[in-house]
Amino acid sequence: MKRSSVHWIPAALVLLVAGGAAACDDAGSGLKPTGTNTPTGDAAPDLPEPGSPGDVQAKQAYAEKLYRELEPQVKEACGKQCHELGLFNPEPPKFLQGPDSYVSIKKFPGIIVRDAFQSGLITKGAHAGPALGATPAVEEKVRKWLEAEAVALTVVKLPGTDPFTVKTGANEIDISKAAQGGITNVKLKFDASLVGGILSLKNLKLVAPAGTDVHINAPRFVRIKPVVDPKAPETVDGSFSNVDQTLQGGTEAELGPGSVFLSGEGWTPFDLAADKIRFDANKLEKGTYNPPPAIKKCKDINAFAANVLPALRGQASGAGSVCNNCHGAGLAGLSLNGNDNQAICDSVLSKLNEANVPQSILILKATAAGTPHNGGKVQNGQAFSDLFNNNKAIFF
Ligand code: HEC
Repeated sequence: MKRSSVHWIPAALVLLVAGGAAACDDAGSGLKPTGTNTPTGDAAPDLPEPGSPGDVQAKQAYAEKLYRELEPQVKEACGKQCHELGLFNPEPPKFLQGPDSYVSIKKFPGIIVRDAFQSGLITKGAHAGPALGATPAVEEKVRKWLEAEAVALTVVKLPGTDPFTVKTGANEIDISKAAQGGITNVKLKFDASLVGGILSLKNLKLVAPAGTDVHINAPRFVRIKPVVDPKAPETVDGSFSNVDQTLQGGTEAELGPGSVFLSGEGWTPFDLAADKIRFDANKLEKGTYNPPPAIKKCKDINAFAANVLPALRGQASGAGSVCNNCHGAGLAGLSLNGNDNQAICDSVLSKLNEANVPQSILILKATAAGTPHNGGKVQNGQAFSDLFNNNKAIFF
């Protein structure tokens, strides 16, 4: 059994503002270079030696300093009625909410991540508001700040496993030491191989103990200092920083993308006999697994194809319209094109309310004046409603 609810922290989604918020592009807060952004010097200030006391605080302080310098510009670009006050409908995510936008933006999922390039601020293109890249000067400063935050994140010590060796082929490691809240028997399985000195881990699987659902967020693989070069820094892999999964107790599931190549700056060939890695995670804890909702299946596909589908495709006179002109390939969850009548019918069924068919979203959108619909209304609303109401046996 392999079940897990996977939830990628929304690099692209987290800042998603659903359509219809075009007003967020209000001219008053539009992105424009302000001319007041005199750089205060690009070089990082002197920092303590990596690993020395105060290193973490110094890196956090440096990141905050960069943010404070660009705070007015970020607010100008993204804040105000949009991501500060959230005054539009649907409400844009308020990642710049007061009283302190720095506190808000640091807490908001998907913005400060270990790989600055995966930050929602960078990956979000033009939406109801403009892309950050529309103002290159601000974007560059944001990048620098995000990179400084990523560095500060990397030096934070997380609970992790003891260093362990890996062997070619199948490995099974108990990673409970990386967990918070005292859960035990959490395991990681993978197949290891060396590819020219680079350590490749494939078929990565997380194994949850029986009876305990497990939540994992932003796991990391860390190569500890290589034996041949003890002065080299640890190599921290940040490629799983967007992983956020909850796994059902007693099951195993692929971890994130399922594989990783460990290498990096200053990497020396990995020595399976002598070198070690360790595993940690931002969160490894008891979770609550929610099974994905089961897809409901239509009962009578032939009758659907004969009696209902033509009305949705404008092939029948009377009820209906050419719904498939817009909803041909999945728009708003309706897929009306193709030959797979089961799949088409199931997608229609997902928009029907069994308890009260005339009040189904599918019928309201196409008939009810009070329900706004980009696709407009059908001419004969009653006939359209009856078509579904009188053919319940097709669906339920
Ligand atoms: C001109 C394009 C167009 C046509 C034609 C069209 N729609 Fe739509 N429909 C949309 C768009 C765009 C949306 C999403 C925004 C909205 O709700 O208006 C939508 C949303 C919907 C939704 C909401 C889905 C959900 O769960 O939120 C339903 C149901 C729907 N349409 C049914 C229909 C039906 C039935 C027809 C044919 C009678 C139809 N549409 C014809 C464009 C269209």
